[in-house]
Amino acid sequence: MRRPIARALTGALGLIAAGAGPLATAPPAAADSVVVGGQPTRITEAPWVVALSSRDRFGGTRAGQFCGGVVVAPTKVLTAAHCLGREVLGGEPWQLSDFTVIAGRTSLRGRGGQEVRVSGTWVNPAYDRRTNSGDLAVLTLAKALPESYVIEVARPDDAALSPGTAAAVYGWGDTTGKGTYAMSLRSARVRVLPDEACERAYQSGSGAAYRGDTMLCAGDPEGGRDACQGDSGGPLVAGGRLIGLVSWGSGCGQPENPGVYTRVPTVLPSRI
Ligand code: ARG
Repeated sequence: MRRPIARALTGALGLIAAGAGPLATAPPAAADSVVVGGQPTRITEAPWVVALSSRDRFGGTRAGQFCGGVVVAPTKVLTAAHCLGREVLGGEPWQLSDFTVIAGRTSLRGRGGQEVRVSGTWVNPAYDRRTNSGDLAVLTLAKALPESYVIEVARPDDAALSPGTAAAVYGWGDTTGKGTYAMSLRSARVRVLPDEACERAYQSGSGAAYRGDTMLCAGDPEGGRDACQGDSGGPLVAGGRLIGLVSWGSGCGQPENPGVYTRVPTVLPSRI
């Protein structure tokens, strides 16, 4: 039986283990297959991708990276609401002494770009942790990032959201489904899939259920290319616009279990 949410949580805990944090746990149970099928990518090609970091919580080996995010205004970063949950942070986000966003840096070992403090967090009040619906949060930065880092958010009726559209997902997450976390940014080419592909994979009763109104289905019909643990909150981009945030899935890169993304254009309030 598939239990995507449990896996999402296990994944989050797996991150802690991989990040050499204080709570070492077993690796993600989602260690099923090939993955991300991506390629190394320079941050200059995708300056809107950021890493969420807390070295205190997750250790310094990978610069404290624990989720992804995306710059939608000089002081606003979108991420997944579940990235700010207790299961991940062990408390409330404001209790982290060193919650930062790392921007303009390709390698987590590098020193390029900048680390900017998160001064405020807003979690979508409609986010449902049981079903993962509405998985979106907004971070406010203490200092503005360059305007050139900002990516435009697609509109709800944007053609980029239609099934078949070529899209790319970005992150520093697991590259194998076995807890092999990337040191350097990667991206994978996927396609927007019809809602039915995710409805089939994630029916209600199997944990979380797919909902086409707040979620977006994307992947590789042949499998092999997908987001994975640690990529959560990172962007899914099509036509140069932001269409989704990595949210959940069962395993990584399995053809029958596509990636589920937050449908940003409909979930994001018009004013943030
Ligand atoms: N929940 C995961 C995270 O916290 C993301 C999982 C995405 N999985 C997928 N197969 N697309 O990092």
